[in-house]
Amino acid sequence: MNVNGTHHRTIWMPEPGIVRIIDQRRLPWAFEVIDLKSVAEVAHAIRDMAVRGAGLIGATAGYGMALAAGEARTWEELEALAQSLVVTRPTAVNLAWAVRRQLDALRQHPPEDWKGVAKREAEEIADEDAAFCSRLGTHGLEVIRSLAAKKPDGVVNVLTHCNAGWLAFVDHGSSTAPIYAAHDAGVPVHVWVDETRPRNQGARLTAWELAQHGVPHTVIADNTGGHLMQHGLVDLVITGADRVTRNGDAANKIGTYLKALAARDNGVPFYVALPSSTFDWSIADGVKNIPIEQRGGEEVAWMEGIDSGGILRNVRVIPQTSPVANYAFDVTPARLITGLITERGVLAADEMALCAAFSDCVPASARQ
Ligand code: MRU
Repeated sequence: MNVNGTHHRTIWMPEPGIVRIIDQRRLPWAFEVIDLKSVAEVAHAIRDMAVRGAGLIGATAGYGMALAAGEARTWEELEALAQSLVVTRPTAVNLAWAVRRQLDALRQHPPEDWKGVAKREAEEIADEDAAFCSRLGTHGLEVIRSLAAKKPDGVVNVLTHCNAGWLAFVDHGSSTAPIYAAHDAGVPVHVWVDETRPRNQGARLTAWELAQHGVPHTVIADNTGGHLMQHGLVDLVITGADRVTRNGDAANKIGTYLKALAARDNGVPFYVALPSSTFDWSIADGVKNIPIEQRGGEEVAWMEGIDSGGILRNVRVIPQTSPVANYAFDVTPARLITGLITERGVLAADEMALCAAFSDCVPASARQ
């Protein structure tokens, strides 16, 4: 994706032993890249959300394993480093998926080959993420095109939540990929950007990305979507996902479920866009079984922004003594999802459709 006219991925390895990332904690105030030189630094970057978003967390874990391959002297040390990455964030399944993929690749080779093997695998994971997101953009474009054809003014209003844009992946994004594809193809789109408290990934990151690409958009307070839908101002919702079960239940940033309920009540199509690395085929019921990350209360109690003098400040927005709960994700049941936009096409959010499209998906009826 372009930043001030220059193409960037969100992560890359400029030389062996160095993982370079865009520090998302600094956006949109500053565009800064930083280098991670150890597994501990990678783990900290994921936990502290210098990198975030399911696909990018997976790609970062892939590169983290490339560093682990240089640090570990034995298989036991490698597994311990792998585990230190897996525990950083629990909900996005891409993290464990990428670490497992690296361990499966490394298991076939002697320790002296690990560095080279893991670097290649990390690059494959990143390239695949970018390619799959580009493909799901092509499929999602057809959804937007068909809605545009039915609108007198042709402008399709898309509501999105959080940031499942290119910053949440290696490139293109999931929920934004169809939007960029439509905009680039000349299909007029306008995006309602949920601010997405507590960390404001929508207001800070999605709005910044869309502005960089020249896509018309409007930032709204989180609770605005239902009102807009009641007044015919939303044609479809597209969100990303952090984990989708084989029944099609989708975990995404907290507040997504409420948007899906409002969409159902107002007959607005609700799509979830994801590459296949975000499926967790081992789970059927997402509400019961997807682990939901709870983060520190300071993310709710404090907000960061720049004041009128351009100074970056952190301000407390709740009383000193009030307790805080910070659930980072919720699960939207498959019954509220119109379709899953994947690299293999737009699929129904159910086990039959998913297991027909992906061989790793084994339906309950075929399980022992
Ligand atoms: O906590 P984050 O920022 O890592 O959350 C992830 C998200 O940005 C969203 O839930 C997103 O919609 C899915 S990630 C592709």
